Amino acid sequence: MQKDIQRVLISQQQLQSRITELAEQVSAEYAGKNPVFVGVLKGVVMFFGDFVKQVSVPCQIDFMCISSYSGTDSTGKMQVKMDLSTDIRDRHVVIVEDIFDTGNSLSYTYDYLLAMKPASLKIVTLLDKPERRKPGVTVKADYTGFVIPNEFVVGYGMDYNEYYRNLPFIGILKPEVYM
Ligand code: IMP
Ligand code: MG
Repeated sequence: MQKDIQRVLISQQQLQSRITELAEQVSAEYAGKNPVFVGVLKGVVMFFGDFVKQVSVPCQIDFMCISSYSGTDSTGKMQVKMDLSTDIRDRHVVIVEDIFDTGNSLSYTYDYLLAMKPASLKIVTLLDKPERRKPGVTVKADYTGFVIPNEFVVGYGMDYNEYYRNLPFIGILKPEVYM
């Protein structure tokens, strides 16, 4: 598996120290607000666990799973595969994402949760690939772990064809793997 990786983009150590900073910042801003952290599956799984473990204020967690209708990211049409189980009306909600790429999925998730009338709605994303953003996407991340170049990354929850999620670091795949 590691043989398919061209290079490590973000090491385990870099991930952990940046996630500690993010969790400290979010904890300070959500003191007394009992936030609900909503993880968007599956890519967020590693980040979500490491992040919420370091949040130091009382909070709740929940998950949702969304996907595009066609299985590609080109249509932009999304659907909810698994919904929240928490009533988020009047709650302070934080969407937790692995990567902000074209912005299709975050825009959809943001509007979907906003319709449930939370008291506030913010976004934390581990990675941001701004070069890939689709025109017309207005949603913005409130907290970002790392801004990365326009490269396809895997590991630490993120996949190619459902593989490589279990790598403990974020790496760039060798092009011959997906070409
Ligand atoms: P979007 O294009 O911003 O809607 O991103 C949709 C989803 O595609 C993300 O939440 C990731 O799960 C996945 N994704 C986007 N870029 C990458 C990547 O470089 N590697 C692995 N998954 C990605
Ligand atoms: Mg995701």
